Amino acid sequence: MDILAIRQDFPILSRQINGNPLIYFDNAATTQKPIQVISAISDFFEKHNGNVHRAVHSLSMEATDLYEKSRENIAKFINAKSSSETIFVRGTTEAINLIAYSWGLGNLGKGDEVLISLMEHHSNIVPWEITSKLRGFTLKYANICDDGTLDYEDLEDKLSKKTKIVCLSQVSNVTGVINDVKRVARAAHEVGALMLVDGAQSVPHMKVDVQDLGCDFLAFSGHKMLGPTGIGVLYGKREVLEKMPPFQGGGEMIKEVAYSRDSGHCAVLWNDLPWKFEAGTPNIAGAVGLGAAVKYLEKLGMDNVLSHEKKLTKYAIDRLKECSKVTVYGPSDPKQKLGIIPFEVKGLSSHDVALFCDNYGIMMRSGYHCAQPLHQVFKLESSARASFYVYNTEAEVDRFVEVLRELDQL
Ligand code: ALA
Repeated sequence: MDILAIRQDFPILSRQINGNPLIYFDNAATTQKPIQVISAISDFFEKHNGNVHRAVHSLSMEATDLYEKSRENIAKFINAKSSSETIFVRGTTEAINLIAYSWGLGNLGKGDEVLISLMEHHSNIVPWEITSKLRGFTLKYANICDDGTLDYEDLEDKLSKKTKIVCLSQVSNVTGVINDVKRVARAAHEVGALMLVDGAQSVPHMKVDVQDLGCDFLAFSGHKMLGPTGIGVLYGKREVLEKMPPFQGGGEMIKEVAYSRDSGHCAVLWNDLPWKFEAGTPNIAGAVGLGAAVKYLEKLGMDNVLSHEKKLTKYAIDRLKECSKVTVYGPSDPKQKLGIIPFEVKGLSSHDVALFCDNYGIMMRSGYHCAQPLHQVFKLESSARASFYVYNTEAEVDRFVEVLRELDQL
């Protein structure tokens, strides 16, 4: 990939912050947008804005075509068998809540178990904690090894005929650890459980093929893959989605609402997939923007995206060793992870480190990154986190290390 040419596509990267060129290292939180995505969104509003699936007029037809074309492109990007298995949602959080409420409330009860892990983002913990209180099922957590990798033996020990679904991130948003979700899906299916993959940090960075993974559900967010906020995707196997009741009721998700004077109620016939799960006017411009983002990533090639990030991560981990006060968490073998590096600077809070870097134009997240249980495993209050994407360079890592080395003098 020609990184310097890629950078030209991102207008924000020419900004100065606090008198320094912007270095954007908060890509696990959200990514910057190329002009191709920005133009697709403004073009939609300038020329094609109308509501989808609602009217016979030209603008409604154009909006519907753009919306559904994006869905088709996204379905192909993850190799779904059909675009009807690809539901537009607000993001990963809404996708997992949809499963917990629609599938979970209908299928889980006392004696059942749901298996997640201690490295999950809160969005793959809290919906299950809430629904376990509502339905009385048992929520189990697979352990994490000291280096932040998944303890597969513990996970497999905790799997049993009682397990009804295993919900696991493919890549940790704190350490960048890549989980072998294909292996876990196979083990889950052997005991008759479903497999949900949280792909928020994987789909943007590597080729994810839902048929190859064998997962029943995959959730991901547009804004972490060059697309806009407020749009994401829930992939589900058709046979599983068909048996699930809708998550929200309203327009678009029904075929018919017929009032009967005899019963005093409306008989409701759900719409077909995927619209059964898309109540109300969707984020049409968001879907169009995400379609453009997918096109951009496909042009780069996901294998190239992955190898660029792996190379940069190895380079950064090696160079961070020069900073005497920095401790990097997570596996030491960069092969096991993607471009997310959590670290601590001795004697400083993570927020102080992030603010110090901000003075030099370096944007980085601090705190516990919506993954408090994983920080408990590391016995950390919080961490600073640098996370990379397609437009980051070794020169930016060099500057970052130079800035952090100033903290050695404190
Ligand atoms: N989940 C996002 C992060 O890790 C917000 O920062």
